[in-house]
Amino acid sequence: MQVTEALRSRFSCRAFLDRPVSLSVIREILDEARKAPSGGNLQPWQVHVVAGKALTGLVEDIRRRFVAAPVGEGTEYDIYPPHLAEPYRTRRFKTGMDLYRALGIAREDTEARQRQWQRNYEFFGAPVGLFFALDRALGPPQWSDVGMYILAVMLLARERGLHSCAQEAWAAWHGAVAAHIQLPASQMLFCGMAIGYGDESAPANAFRTERAPLDEFAVFHD
Ligand SMILES: Cc1cc2nc3c(=O)[nH]c(=O)nc-3n(C[C@H](O)[C@H](O)[C@H](O)COP(=O)(O)O)c2cc1C
Repeated sequence: MQVTEALRSRFSCRAFLDRPVSLSVIREILDEARKAPSGGNLQPWQVHVVAGKALTGLVEDIRRRFVAAPVGEGTEYDIYPPHLAEPYRTRRFKTGMDLYRALGIAREDTEARQRQWQRNYEFFGAPVGLFFALDRALGPPQWSDVGMYILAVMLLARERGLHSCAQEAWAAWHGAVAAHIQLPASQMLFCGMAIGYGDESAPANAFRTERAPLDEFAVFHD
């Protein structure tokens, strides 16, 4: 598979087939992704893989906690700035609306929207979950390095017929996740990722997000 095809065929997959993924494939992906660049070659990424009983135990724990606290524990970092300005606000809103429309969820149906949000904490049915963390002492440039590693994982997954969905939603349960994966206190959880064989016929996977045209953000100086 060409890189262009891997990039074009990637989307945030929110429904997975009940088909196992060998951990040796995940290992290979994470190993190949080490080639991702990082400023000063710091390689600040830390990855935890959850599958099998570890995944089931975590999902069940969060399901129990969710009943008492649907918004979670609160995040350790702002997923978005408190006042999201344009054009970001509209983009975020549209993405949410398009997802709920694909799922047939009405705008005012907060219960159904919450149920869909909760699917995050089941890794959308994926057989493997990843967690990405980094040392708390590191700053924004290193967070961006972790992002590059994450994209490498997503593209390598596509090459192997797998789909993925990055999940900042897990940041809302950072304490519970940290306890399950024994994350050292010196590290901060950035996000999770669901990974598996996508159910391409599922309504949750029936829409594609748009992108602003190139000339809106790229300036050529020559
Ligand atoms: C770091 C990161 C975290 C994300 N967190 C979530 C999440 O918690 N739940 C979710 O459903 N989608 C999540 N997404 C998916 C984005 O909504 C998605 O990438 C964006 O809308 C573009 O759509 P696409 O990935 O289908 O191209 C996340 C994406 C990234 C890059």
